[in-house]
Amino acid sequence: SKEIFVSDLISKMTLEEKLGQLNLPTSGDITTGQANSSDVAKNIEQGKVGGLFNIKSVQKIREVQKIAVEKSRLKIPLLFGMDVIHGYETTFPIPLALSCTWDMNLIKRSAQIAAQEASADGINWTFSPMVDISRDPRWGRISEGNGEDPFLGSQIAKAMVSGYQGDDLMKNNTILSCVKHFALYGAPEAGREYNTVDMSRIRMYNEYFPPYKAAIDAGVGSVMASFNEVDGIPATCNKWLMTDVLRNQWNFKGFVVTDYTAIMELSEHGMGDMQTSSVLALNAGVEMDMVSNGFLSTLKKSVEEGKVTLQQIDNAVRLLLNAKYDLGLFNDPYKYCDEHRAKTEIFTNSNRSEARKIATQSLVLLKNDNQLLPLKKTGTIAVIGPLADAKENMAGTWSVAAKQENSIALLAGIKAEVGNSAKVLYAKGSNLDYDAMLEEKATMFGKTLHRDNRTKEELLSEALKIANQSDVIVAALGESAEFSGECSSRTNLKIPQAQKDLLQALLKTGKPVVLVLFNGRPLVLNDENATVPAILDVWFAGSEAGYAISDVLFGNVNPSGKLTTTFPRSVGQVPIYYASKNTGRPLGNKDGKFEKFKTNYIDEINEPLFPFGYGLSYTTFEYSNLKISATKMSKSETLKVTVDVTNTGNLEGKEVVQLYIRDIVGTVTRPIKELKGFQKIALKKGEKQTVTFEISVEDLKFYNSNLEFVAEPGKFEVFIGPNSDTSNKTEFELVN
Ligand code: IFM
Repeated sequence: SKEIFVSDLISKMTLEEKLGQLNLPTSGDITTGQANSSDVAKNIEQGKVGGLFNIKSVQKIREVQKIAVEKSRLKIPLLFGMDVIHGYETTFPIPLALSCTWDMNLIKRSAQIAAQEASADGINWTFSPMVDISRDPRWGRISEGNGEDPFLGSQIAKAMVSGYQGDDLMKNNTILSCVKHFALYGAPEAGREYNTVDMSRIRMYNEYFPPYKAAIDAGVGSVMASFNEVDGIPATCNKWLMTDVLRNQWNFKGFVVTDYTAIMELSEHGMGDMQTSSVLALNAGVEMDMVSNGFLSTLKKSVEEGKVTLQQIDNAVRLLLNAKYDLGLFNDPYKYCDEHRAKTEIFTNSNRSEARKIATQSLVLLKNDNQLLPLKKTGTIAVIGPLADAKENMAGTWSVAAKQENSIALLAGIKAEVGNSAKVLYAKGSNLDYDAMLEEKATMFGKTLHRDNRTKEELLSEALKIANQSDVIVAALGESAEFSGECSSRTNLKIPQAQKDLLQALLKTGKPVVLVLFNGRPLVLNDENATVPAILDVWFAGSEAGYAISDVLFGNVNPSGKLTTTFPRSVGQVPIYYASKNTGRPLGNKDGKFEKFKTNYIDEINEPLFPFGYGLSYTTFEYSNLKISATKMSKSETLKVTVDVTNTGNLEGKEVVQLYIRDIVGTVTRPIKELKGFQKIALKKGEKQTVTFEISVEDLKFYNSNLEFVAEPGKFEVFIGPNSDTSNKTEFELVN
């Protein structure tokens, strides 16, 4: 059995070999040079490496695995990790966009395809899903999570883990998943990357922990510690987090890996030198050290000094070896090194067509006056903007395995879609035009911004020339891929000024303008919402972006994405989210009127520009006949809530029907609304469907001030509608 096999192996290991298993360096010069001659290779031979990451291709991985299983004393195979975040070479929309599909089958499918492609290329471990709740669009990695809501985030966490790991890690097309970043990484002060997090425990448990826990409950094999501190102690050495919560309360059985150089960074946090920090991390319940080399270089001494025990090290090694065993690596260390699979299963037409379909579901129609969309394939279409012909910007952040040159740009997608039926003209119109500091950052990531050296006036005049010849203008504007993602925090959430100027000039031509908005975060779009007739939020839709966006622009697919983050009116409203508390001085009106000594601003209304759950369709849906099966419910009963949804427009379409609950009275204050159910339904023109939700006591539970998970008797309101702003409600009482 696994236990006997692993125990037997541990009994043969020296302390150095044990510490080697806990060591996760980067692939270093293996990716560029000859594996056999590199330093990392020597360490592998000496049994000092447990896994490697971000090394790509079967041939390279096979070569390195060979060193481990042929040259090292105990022949223990390596784990090969990678940031396979939203697809491998076939890329899907960025996670924030994927979440806007509200379609768990599609999200799971995206992870399955990612696992299939990654495993065909030698990878057996992905650092995904990232499930950090974030309510702060200043934070660049909001793009990599699933938005602001713990309920939706939990469903997605589960779908992703089961997509990657399948029902059996022994298969060769499933891979080990790593949920990250535990915990609270999405709530840094001021939205500044890696900044301090300070949060009450009750908020952690109710609002930020649920998606991590959902991943654990779904059987995720590994957890990555976050860079930030939690309650004054960095997560990497936080025993309460890694042992009390993760192991004791949630019963996690896999292993914990640090983030990149996080043990080393503990000294910057003020925790002590590498010797001390390594002890703190191991004692906290961390098993694997990513890149710091702290465990490998210091723990032997700490064992001798009695600061950590051999037993602790054996426990950690056991978890690593268990994972390798579960993956079947001891049976066949080359299980994922199949050249034939690498040639035939990656970036295939069928994976790409699924990615295209999934991408269409992630786009969110924010505005569509006078049914400007869908566009007709006639006349002349001017496609203008710095993101119109920008392949390198389609896949979005953290797409390390993707070949950017394979992505389909919007312009190419539109041309393919209209063929000879319409004339397509193109002009860049402006540079992306971030300020100098941001441009420098983009170059640091090794990405060129393809800056056009013509002057602003020259670019504009070329654009206006084709705009004036056109019947409709498609303006492709917004952020480039690298302006969200890790270490891309912003203080300004607007479209850059040069692009705003371009947009206003295009609007002045009097031609209808469709704004195709590229973004990795909620942006402040007040000006655009006030002046542009149609806005389609396309995020970064992945390798098939151009085709998928065109599918929606020309009506092959009716948009059905709904926002999973609130879009503010002003950066000053941040953090802004729908599940807020009422406060003791709520505003008495919803008309935006200022009220002295109430919770509001003197220079901005409280409401967001677009609420959580919002998104339009080319058709319209009407909600009616909200009913509840009883007005009282005991803790052992369930209630049925039904609503009729009718497609009242002229096209077939999909709608995400959302159910929110408000707990009116509690021993602690409760949010004014919490998502507790959703269903994505498809309705033909004129069709009506009765949608049924069940409410059980589980849906009413929350963590009280003793951190007990309870449902408290009393009155509840139930809302069902097309987004979180709905006031369509009924109520019931939970009785003892
Ligand atoms: O997985 C990532 C993490 O999300 C951020 N730091 C680096 C890790 C490995 O690439």
